[in-house]
Amino acid sequence: MVHFLSLRDFSAKELEGLIRRAMEVKRYPQSVQDAMRGKTLALLFLKHSTRTRVSFEVAMYQMGGNAIYLTADTSQFGRGETIADTIRTLSRYVDAVAARVFEHEQLEELARHATVPVINALTNFNHPCQVLGDLMTILEHKGRLDGIRLSFLGPADNNIVNSLLHACPKFGVHLTVCSPPGQRLNPTALEYARAVARETDTEVRLVHDPIEAVKNADVIYTDVWFSMHETPSEEGLRLYRPYQVNEALMAQAPKDAVFMHCMPIKRGQEATDAVADSEQSIIFDQAENRLHTQKAILLHLIG
Ligand code: CP
Repeated sequence: MVHFLSLRDFSAKELEGLIRRAMEVKRYPQSVQDAMRGKTLALLFLKHSTRTRVSFEVAMYQMGGNAIYLTADTSQFGRGETIADTIRTLSRYVDAVAARVFEHEQLEELARHATVPVINALTNFNHPCQVLGDLMTILEHKGRLDGIRLSFLGPADNNIVNSLLHACPKFGVHLTVCSPPGQRLNPTALEYARAVARETDTEVRLVHDPIEAVKNADVIYTDVWFSMHETPSEEGLRLYRPYQVNEALMAQAPKDAVFMHCMPIKRGQEATDAVADSEQSIIFDQAENRLHTQKAILLHLIG
């Protein structure tokens, strides 16, 4: 059974194949308009979503298939049915399940009991669908991945960062994470990234100075400072304030650097309106490319 749980599980060649396929289906959407005929994707979402939910549903509809959206509130999962029983049952009806769960272990348990492919639609640990779309977006804007310098500003313990650690070194993308002093990268993701980076002669580093992070960057990426169900504290806001991507910080970066954010943005916190809505911002291209890369993932798993 092939699942899509982490970018770590796929070689650079396989991921590049998915990105190239996504570019093809973006250019020629009619070429796959019947590819999912008779197929159904279940979306088991225990957390809110706009982009991931809509892009998966639209991907299935545009390829001639169906999608069914399930939440804890509207399924027996929310009333105590086990993960194992839920996924074994869904496996009897649908061809794949995209799951957005709180704990990564919940996703792994789903995958263990599933008899159809499971796609990671975000966990507390990683967000592989997002970062696959991001790599496609960088390739579109910069014409290459090898040698690109990507700087992420914000929390080191972040699901986007972990997926970037899994993927960037495979493609020769130099990754800088810029976080408040005292924060650490996930040790497992970092160990993996460093091992791949040695083979591909790529840099992976954690710094604390935002100007140092952006001064040579081709891509400046940020994410929310607080996760979906976390209440921001005054102390937390103060801690991250120097890492806000604003016009003053962008002025320290090369003029052709692009701004990325997986969205939703907390405008005025991690990024200002002036940056998010600037010419350098490619955030809506990122959002759009979720659709195309997820089509490529679905075609790979159940096409
Ligand atoms: N970036 C992302 O996953 O967006 P949603 O939470 O809206 O799905």
